[in-house]
Amino acid sequence: MKIEAYIKHLSGQVNSFIRKVVSFGNKKVDSAVAYAVFSGGKRLRPALFLVTLESLGKKINQDALRVAAALEFVHVFSLIQDDLPLMDNDDYRRGRPTAHKVFGEDIALLASDALLNRAYALICRDSAFSAELKSKILSELAVAVNNLIAGQADDLDLVRKKKIPAGRLNDIYMAKTGALLSACVKIAGIIKGLNAAELKKLGSFGNKLGLVYQISDDLLNVSCDKKTFKGRLLSDKKRGKLTYLSMFGRDKALDISDGLINGAIREIKNIPMDKGRLLELCFFILKRKY
Ligand code: IPE
Ligand code: IPE
Ligand code: MG
Ligand code: MG
Repeated sequence: MKIEAYIKHLSGQVNSFIRKVVSFGNKKVDSAVAYAVFSGGKRLRPALFLVTLESLGKKINQDALRVAAALEFVHVFSLIQDDLPLMDNDDYRRGRPTAHKVFGEDIALLASDALLNRAYALICRDSAFSAELKSKILSELAVAVNNLIAGQADDLDLVRKKKIPAGRLNDIYMAKTGALLSACVKIAGIIKGLNAAELKKLGSFGNKLGLVYQISDDLLNVSCDKKTFKGRLLSDKKRGKLTYLSMFGRDKALDISDGLINGAIREIKNIPMDKGRLLELCFFILKRKY
């Protein structure tokens, strides 16, 4: 199966699981949560987690799907907040009006809170995971959310900036986007019981992958398919936002991404795992058109 098809296959499993755990018990919040979660996301973070887990020789079972759902919930929490008028002020997400446009800013904000809360609650639920394993997963997720929040805060300073040191831009991108991707691969490593040195390598792999993912997000902002990305084309430019594209231009940004992917793959070369599908996923991220 090609990687695109495999991501879709995993996404089907994750979606079925999410349907069972997506309700919070408040009609208004539930509607906004369901709207934001089931709006055609790629489920890249669950896929990255599940593919890494399989590469490490572990099976995809209900416990794995629970973690995958939690990772997607954190992602959707971040998207709802990212689109709010006081953040990026975007009217469209995943080709549809953003959650705050449909449900109002108040309910959208509460829906994002609910998703973050549910992500942690899912990990705590009864499962075959020991209390120690759950606590390690929770800490990893909490570190990622912390970095994501810091990255989002620093990202706000990129509006109306022309140039900043490249290292600073990388740090912001690795925080706002890399941290969660890094958690996806590290949590798979934690479940497998990898040692600290291996987890560190997996973490750097995920951070580099996240940086490439965010660079391609910047590139897609000027070249994406208008229908799929309705209302988002050129949104960075309209806001006068500094991006990888405005700093480096397309060709250089693509060269940097190439180098980062190779660097990411080098990070995990000594970790014993069956890397076939994981490498395909890396190249999907590098070349993605959506
Ligand atoms: C968009 O992420 C925001 C970034 C961090 C780049 P995705 O491109 O993974 O969004 P969905 O989930 O597929 O909509
Ligand atoms: C999104 O970054 C990062 C997070 C939501 C954490 P952007 O603001 O650049 O992504 P899009 O273009 O809105 O998806
Ligand atoms: Mg943003
Ligand atoms: Mg945004």
